[in-house]
Amino acid sequence: MSWKNDQVNEKETKRILELAESVLDVEGDFVEFGCYKGDTSLLLQEILVKSDVEKSAKRLWIYDSFEGLPEKGSQDESVLGVLFKSGELAVTKREVKQRFLKAGLPVPVIKKVWFADLTEADLPERIAFAFLDGDFYESIKDSLKLVVPRMSEGGVVAVHDYTNPALPGVKRAVDELGIKNNKKFRIELL
Ligand SMILES: C[S@@+](CC[C@H](N)C(=O)[O-])C[C@H]1O[C@@H](n2cnc3c(N)ncnc32)[C@H](O)[C@@H]1O
Repeated sequence: MSWKNDQVNEKETKRILELAESVLDVEGDFVEFGCYKGDTSLLLQEILVKSDVEKSAKRLWIYDSFEGLPEKGSQDESVLGVLFKSGELAVTKREVKQRFLKAGLPVPVIKKVWFADLTEADLPERIAFAFLDGDFYESIKDSLKLVVPRMSEGGVVAVHDYTNPALPGVKRAVDELGIKNNKKFRIELL
């Protein structure tokens, strides 16, 4: 499948895929918080399909409001102003599902939900690879709180936009939760 994504650049995508491939032998599933159109999700699913882990039933779980971005909070204000408005990046769950079918890939577990409303049953028990791409402070904080307790030893949490000056809430959320020096899993800040 070719790389094409208006949200994550090629270099970042390559790194995400490299990281995901590096944890194929780690216990647990793959998750993506903020899948949008599913560009990265398709590539993650392709990795799972091509690998032997398909036999061990490693699954991909993807989450999105499918109503676009929520309201920005005060932690998200940046000098770059009005970029990233609420409701932006809305697509339907159906469209995303269709993309998997069209690509001949198994449809992952797709949850239409605000991250803050997720319950235990909506998440895999163990996670080997998590890609967090919710753009805003509350979204990253909510997803980290769900993912961290489920991370397997040796797994990877990749957080997008940590260094993006237009989305300062991402760095704030990660730094506040104090997880960068944990010894259990690796955290990659893209
Ligand atoms: C930058 S896009 C994701 C891009 C995608 N990861 C990719 O690689 O193409 C951010 C997505 O996060 C979703 N999102 C942000 N905050 C959310 C929240 N709190 N709950 C649910 N979805 C959220 C938005 O709807 C949007 O689709």
